[in-house]
Parts: sequence; structure tokens; C-alpha cells
Amino acid sequence: MSTARPLAGRLALVTGASRGIGAAVARRLALSGARVALLARNADALAALVAEIGEGAVALVCDVRDTGALSRALDSLPELLGGAPGIVVNNAGAFFVAPARDTSVDAFAATLAVNLTAPFAVVRALLPAMSASRLGHVVTIGSIADRMAFPGNAAYAASKYGLRALHEVLRAELKASGVRVSLVSPGPVDTDLWNSIDPDQQAGFTPRSEMLSPESVAEAVHWVVTSPAGVNVDELRLSRS
Ligand SMILES: NC(=O)c1ccc[n+]([C@@H]2O[C@H](COP(=O)([O-])OP(=O)(O)OC[C@H]3O[C@@H](n4cnc5c(N)ncnc54)[C@H](OP(=O)(O)O)[C@@H]3O)[C@@H](O)[C@H]2O)c1
Repeated sequence: MSTARPLAGRLALVTGASRGIGAAVARRLALSGARVALLARNADALAALVAEIGEGAVALVCDVRDTGALSRALDSLPELLGGAPGIVVNNAGAFFVAPARDTSVDAFAATLAVNLTAPFAVVRALLPAMSASRLGHVVTIGSIADRMAFPGNAAYAASKYGLRALHEVLRAELKASGVRVSLVSPGPVDTDLWNSIDPDQQAGFTPRSEMLSPESVAEAVHWVVTSPAGVNVDELRLSRS
């Protein structure tokens, strides 16, 4: 294993890789030698990133709310990638801010579908191969909102608190299995996720210039997955210095 390319020979899946944190994570893992599968809905953005990354990167165009489509996409991975992924970064996420009384049941359910049910479906599909090889790493992208309640966050906080619970159960189940599980929970990150809110113009939100960069979150994910084999980074919480 070369120090410069510590992930050479590893296969990785990054969900929500068409932009933002997921795209930065995909670039970072590929830079260290991993062959990455990029999953999201925006086919053009994925194709552009696959072309930019090279290194055998592949695209999986899929809406994770469609459990059938997600299952088919995950089934196609071994053939597309040349093997089952040993690193999974569950990153795809949906976010909006609205008081609970103004949040429709459908919007609440859709947020849970993307942020909670889909990561579970991904892990459920890919865990058997990881467990069989006794080599795998599931990285969950949480949020500051998986431990802190903010007004307007009913759907998002419910999904992220739940996602942290899923991570903790997986950690308990997979201890000493060879499969590592890590939660990376950033504070505000300057990505398109904030576009509909425009945090620079609204009181109570962190200005974009004071947010983390997607690349700094990607660096943290890279550190987690390249940590020594005997170490499980259980939880990493990121805020601006
Ligand atoms: N930005 C922040 O301040 C912040 C802070 C803490 C945690 N996070 C978490 O970090 C993760 C990434 O967020 P980001 O800031 O990079 O947001 P972003 O720029 O909005 O990117 C979200 C990604 O998720 C994908 N996605 C959303 N809905 C999807 C669906 N139904 N099916 C498939 N893919 C879907 C999007 O791709 P398509 O639109 O192409 O499908 C996109 O690639 C999320 O889990 C978010 O909760 C973000």
C-alpha cells in the first residue's frame, strides 16, 4: 500500500455525489486511488464528474426515494465497479427549513426517505459482501442537527437524529466484524443545499463565508477511511475553527 495512494485497489460508493460534499468526497477518495461509483439523480453532473475524475469512476443515476430503482442500481454495482464496494459513504441528503406546523406530512416523509430510509437500504444491500470479506467501512454523513434542535428543522432533525441512531446500532452490531462504521457530522457547509434559504440575507443563519468548505468535510472522510485498520472512528463532529 503506497502512502500517497492509500486507497489503491479499494472500491467505493458515494451517494449524493453530483455536487457539494459528495462530489468533494468522491474526488478525494479517487485521488487516493479508490475506484468510485457516484450515485445521484443529475445524470449530466455525474457524467461530468466521472470524466473529471477518470480512475475508472462510474455513474449510477438514481432517485434514492425510489426503493426499487435504488435496489437495481446497487445490484448493478459489482459488475460496473468490478467488485462489491468496500467503502460506502451515505451522503445524499435533502434539507428545507419550515416550522413544524407548515411542514406537510409528504414533505416530512420525503425527507426521511432520502436522509434515513435510503441510507438503511444502501447498508442493507451492501453489508453482506462487506461482512463476508471482513473488510468494509460505512461512513454516514450526519449533521450538527443530529444532536441539536433548531427551529424549522422538524423533518431534517428527525431524519438526522434517526440516522445517528442507525449508525450507533450498526456500530454495536458490527463491532469486531471487520466492518467499520463512522459518523461524520459537520456544522454548516457552503454548498447548494443553502441556495433556497440564502443564509447571507437572513438573521439566525451562518453566513456562507463562515461555513466549512465541502473539501474540508471530504478531508475528514478521507482521514476516517484511511485510519489504521485496528481503529474505528465512531463519530467525528466538525465546526469552523
Ligand atoms: N451543507 C451543509 O451545511 C451540511 C451540513 C451538515 C450535513 N450536511 C449533509 O451533507 C450531505 C450532503 O449535503 P450537501 O451540502 O452537499 O448538499 P447538496 O449540495 O444539496 O447535495 C445533495 C446531494 O444529494 C443528492 N440527492 C438529493 N436528493 C436525492 C435523491 N432523492 N436521490 C438521489 N440523490 C439525491 C443530490 O443529487 P441530485 O440532486 O443530483 O440527485 C446531491 O448530490 C447531506 O446529507 C446533508 O444533510 C450538509
